[in-house]
Amino acid sequence: MNLEERHVNALSDVLKTGIDGWTDIVDLQPMFFKMTLELMTEFLYGHSPSQMSRKPDAPSTQEFGHHFDAGKAWVNLRMALGRWHWLVHSPAFSLHCKKVHQYVDYFVKAKLQQGSEVTETKLAPTKFATREKFVLLDELAKQTRNPLEIRGETLGVLGAGRDTTASLLTWIFYFLSRSPRTFGKLRGTILEIFGTEASSIDFLKLRSCQYLQHCINETLRMTAVVPILERESLEDTILPRGGGPDGTKPVFIPKGQRVLISTYALAQRSDIWGDHPEDFIPQRWEHRKVGLEFIPFGGGPRKCIGRKPALSPFQNHIDTDTRFLEQFALTEVSVCLSQISSRPMLSLTE
Ligand code: HEM
Repeated sequence: MNLEERHVNALSDVLKTGIDGWTDIVDLQPMFFKMTLELMTEFLYGHSPSQMSRKPDAPSTQEFGHHFDAGKAWVNLRMALGRWHWLVHSPAFSLHCKKVHQYVDYFVKAKLQQGSEVTETKLAPTKFATREKFVLLDELAKQTRNPLEIRGETLGVLGAGRDTTASLLTWIFYFLSRSPRTFGKLRGTILEIFGTEASSIDFLKLRSCQYLQHCINETLRMTAVVPILERESLEDTILPRGGGPDGTKPVFIPKGQRVLISTYALAQRSDIWGDHPEDFIPQRWEHRKVGLEFIPFGGGPRKCIGRKPALSPFQNHIDTDTRFLEQFALTEVSVCLSQISSRPMLSLTE
């Protein structure tokens, strides 16, 4: 069983059915945030809070999650202030950072101590481990011995991949619970393709399940999980459109100018998406090919590296970290969605 499947199974087990055969009313959002945190920390540091074999002195992922969330709220506020970020600081923010760093440093230190016996030749980049055993920390430790660099890189991936995936999952279930017809159709499609047995969920089939992809795309469009992208001009330049009273004329962007791109506003344009862009209509994705008008994962050289659905889940050897990461977000979302929707007695509405 792979990483995503194991964590989704653990979440699914919590959704117990009562004697009447129905699941209790549950708040899925905290469950998704807990699942994505545990999944990501296992992927990043090889640490799973539920592992029986875990070291007794290992730090608590739950406590880490609390400080990570609280610290990120401060970081978001500081990011919104741009160059004035230094105006926002507090002892609470320092404490959250300290606790987050302590958690990460525990694993980094243990890894680097282990690695002190490693010879130079072993430090050279090697083929990555099997997907199931892939731990980003192990791979980074083959490239650098700098603990601060490893801390920064792994926290960067956690910051980029955890909340986004959990938010997308939460929003999908939000829309499905308000659209019984869509949920019925999706559930029917999933049951037809996979049946009710989670073990029959095959990633290649998942990828070919068009309606599932349409529901995910429509949720990404409606909510713009990352609503604003940011770029800074490295030199004076001219954009071909965006200036003048109607935005069709060229616009001058001086060197050093911050440019904010609202993916949310882009997703609300009826000239692109047709009538009622404010409505959740997965069918609008039928036969649609998109370009830069749909950029939930950004665009260009800095676009998200966790964006693509699984290509081949059963491939044993992963040659590049990018290829591995590309399989992350949408695979997790697809597996979760299929497994929960296909439960025999699940109702998303009362
Ligand atoms: C639904 C889930 C996700 C969404 C909507 C999302 C969206 C984005 C967006 C909009 C960016 C900025 C791109 C740009 O500026 O052009 C980004 C960057 C990034 N994402 Fe994701 N992401 C998701 C999941 C993930 C996951 C699961 C991972 C890792 C496993 C990940 C890793 C990254 C990294 C490392 C970057 C920074 C890339 C760079 O700066 O070079 N993301 N993501």
